[in-house]
Amino acid sequence: MIIKRIILNNFRNYGGLDIEVGPSVNVIYGNNAQGKTNIIEAISVGSSVYSHRTSKDKEMIRFGSNEYEVILQCHDEVYDSDTELKACYYNEKSEFNSKRIPARGLFQDGMSIPKISQYIGVCNTVIFAPEDLNIVKGMPASRRKYLNLLICKVSPSYYDNLGRIKKLIDQKNACLKSFRGVYDPGRDNELDYWDFSIADLSSYLIIERFRFCELINRKAAAHHSIISDGKENLKIEYVTLKGSEAVIRGILDEDDMFDTFIKGTLSEAILARIRSTLSDFILDKLRKERISDVEKGVYTNGVHRDDLEITLNDLSMRQFSSQGQQRSASLSLKLAELEIIKEKTNSSPILLLDDVFSELDEGRRVSLLSGMNSAQIFITCTDRSFVENELSSIVTGSVDTCFYRVESGKVFCE
Ligand SMILES: Nc1ncnc2c1ncn2[C@@H]1O[C@H](COP(=O)(O)OP(=O)(O)OP(=O)(O)O)[C@@H](O)[C@H]1O
Ligand SMILES: [Mg+2]
Repeated sequence: MIIKRIILNNFRNYGGLDIEVGPSVNVIYGNNAQGKTNIIEAISVGSSVYSHRTSKDKEMIRFGSNEYEVILQCHDEVYDSDTELKACYYNEKSEFNSKRIPARGLFQDGMSIPKISQYIGVCNTVIFAPEDLNIVKGMPASRRKYLNLLICKVSPSYYDNLGRIKKLIDQKNACLKSFRGVYDPGRDNELDYWDFSIADLSSYLIIERFRFCELINRKAAAHHSIISDGKENLKIEYVTLKGSEAVIRGILDEDDMFDTFIKGTLSEAILARIRSTLSDFILDKLRKERISDVEKGVYTNGVHRDDLEITLNDLSMRQFSSQGQQRSASLSLKLAELEIIKEKTNSSPILLLDDVFSELDEGRRVSLLSGMNSAQIFITCTDRSFVENELSSIVTGSVDTCFYRVESGKVFCE
């Protein structure tokens, strides 16, 4: 899938924008604070309902307006068909919002799409931005976000289950709070119900996360080894409820079987066995931790606290790595994401490179763009000639590069 045309209404500093874009490399250049990142953000919002800068849709509405609209007209090269995606967000004052409650709208070819999971994946994008450093350096939430977004792009049911467990955890927490000081172990059918549902969904999420973490680990380690001339050993490990990994590995006791599991081709019967064994294990754990959770009034030990442990030569990267090493590792993680999406969807996702290209040294630029000759790419930069020269030396073959100059929320095709 490629994007042919981008239409923005009241998005960030764009009152109205309507541009046609090229099928291969699109360079968006201009001085600082003109609106380059805003275009990249809009493409990400329009394709993945995800902004790398904010989780608050309201912030993306142009100051003084009441709604934003991002429309991406796309072309599917495999089926030679067009489709139009529209993501919008209305605040309570918008005239299009009769309910007067802030709301998001998602549409494909004019039809409302009720679930985000059905919308994500139609047009896949992978964004590389300075904020990626947070995956290595930031809090566990940044790593969970990275992992969740990656899996959501290839698995709609994962997205739905993520939403479900979030609701269940909120309900369990409300229940735990209400039990504080008045807890009667003989009458807590309600907690039994939440725990049963949480154990069931947690087992699904843990299996998926474990699988994808191992995939990421293998791919990111290979990239990092190239970037560091074989000197550094990057390792990504999934950190979740203690003992869960052993339960999974206990059933997948042969190497071949473990590989099949990682590839996602394990038989349904074995997968169901892993899921039910893990679910029982988690339920048992939840029951044992019940008294302490009631005392605290909050559910602490769940998949909502999962993390990735990222080490370089066996040392925690958060604590011991240099800024350059952290940057290389975050690039390796994003390259792993790119490869996984490419493999799982059988097509190259659209690459969105915000400010990162000129920051990378030559080896890393090659790592990023090798194998991406056929992909559509959007690059932002302040110096057009630098990117122009670098691109021509990396991207081989006949690549038509389109240039867009951005000035105060206006875009000039050149
Ligand atoms: N909701 C909004 N409404 C209107 N303008 C906004 C809104 N949010 C941000 N802006 C404006 O957008 C501009 C920044 O745009 P953007 O981040 O795309 O710049 P940029 O061209 O990528 O700059 P740099 O080269 O520094 O990265 C700023 O002038 C900012 O005030
Ligand atoms: Mg920018």
